Amino acid sequence: MNVGIVGWGFYVPDRVLSNADLEKMVDTTDEWITTRTGIKTRRIAGDDMAVSDMGAEAGSKALEKAGLSPGDIDLIVVATITSDMSFPSSACFVQKKLKAENAVCFDISAACSGFIYAMDVARGLMSSSGYKNALVIGSEKLSMIADWEDRNTCVLFGDGAGAVVLSEVESGGFLSSYLGADGSKDELLYLPGGGSRNPATHKTVDEKLHCLKMKGNELFKIAVKIMASSAEIVLEKAGLDKTDVKRLIPHQANSRIIWATAKMLGLKKEQVFVNIGRYGNMSSASGAVALCEVLDLKDINKDDILLLVAFGGGLTWGATVIKVS
Ligand code: ACO
Repeated sequence: MNVGIVGWGFYVPDRVLSNADLEKMVDTTDEWITTRTGIKTRRIAGDDMAVSDMGAEAGSKALEKAGLSPGDIDLIVVATITSDMSFPSSACFVQKKLKAENAVCFDISAACSGFIYAMDVARGLMSSSGYKNALVIGSEKLSMIADWEDRNTCVLFGDGAGAVVLSEVESGGFLSSYLGADGSKDELLYLPGGGSRNPATHKTVDEKLHCLKMKGNELFKIAVKIMASSAEIVLEKAGLDKTDVKRLIPHQANSRIIWATAKMLGLKKEQVFVNIGRYGNMSSASGAVALCEVLDLKDINKDDILLLVAFGGGLTWGATVIKVS
């Protein structure tokens, strides 16, 4: 079964948090954030906006682009680490909001690699179980798990959602994919509180265990190597060369990681898509939003080769090659 992207759409909240705003909140500067991360602004969702609300907004746009109605969707997969609740899944809430009552729904937790994992799982289910139209969403409200007193992390993250509709296509589609994980490096990026290990108590709140913890420096070095090697693996699996790539769509964690990866792969500047300056790191939503923005670019045409690559907490990583349908 030849599966491809037939619709796409994204949503970011209106509220913009600039580096100048952050200068008033923690001991940082626009100069430090810009040169060390490439980030200028990020979007912050309001209290009334949860992951499924943003996911449904993005999903609705993707359905419209695909020319499908909610009832045509038989599978909804949401990649997120900031789900509305532990359960029901955010996918179930998206189903309710969109009135996509024929859909099977579940979430995937693979941090920043989540969107690539989710597209792979959805494709697999479409082939094995006969689902015809899948809505795959990456949606995150990272502002909810950021420690707004920790300058090492709070400047990095933002909120948003991106969605694609996957269906059978006559030409193009997914050419290859590759996923990986290393659970032994869990301590590099994690959120300790609120689960069965450290259930929520006054103590876990006081100790900020409900905020994301990260060893950024160590992650940085691993990220470049993993992103480059994953990209090489999927290109080889697809029988393609770096010169065939119209756009590399890397996870938007840090512009220095992106450019170091591009350099390792020998890609030209114009082959690389970067939107971290506007949105910061939106974890699983980063790849989803970036893919939507690339598909909207005037110079992207049928048969162009897109290469998505991501890494994140877990550790997890993944890459996929898509030929535009
Ligand atoms: N403003 C000013 N100074 C700062 C800030 C800030 N916002 N943050 C850190 N610093 C300081 C540090 O305190 C340190 O000061 P010191 O030398 O006096 O101790 C100095 O800057 C250097 O700190 P480093 O951590 O070495 O800075 P680095 O260049 O590594 O940049 C960063 C930090 C941006 C976090 C980088 O390491 C990074 O991007 N790492 C990867 C992050 C990532 O990819 N995460 C995974 C994806 S996220 C997910 O899955 C949800």
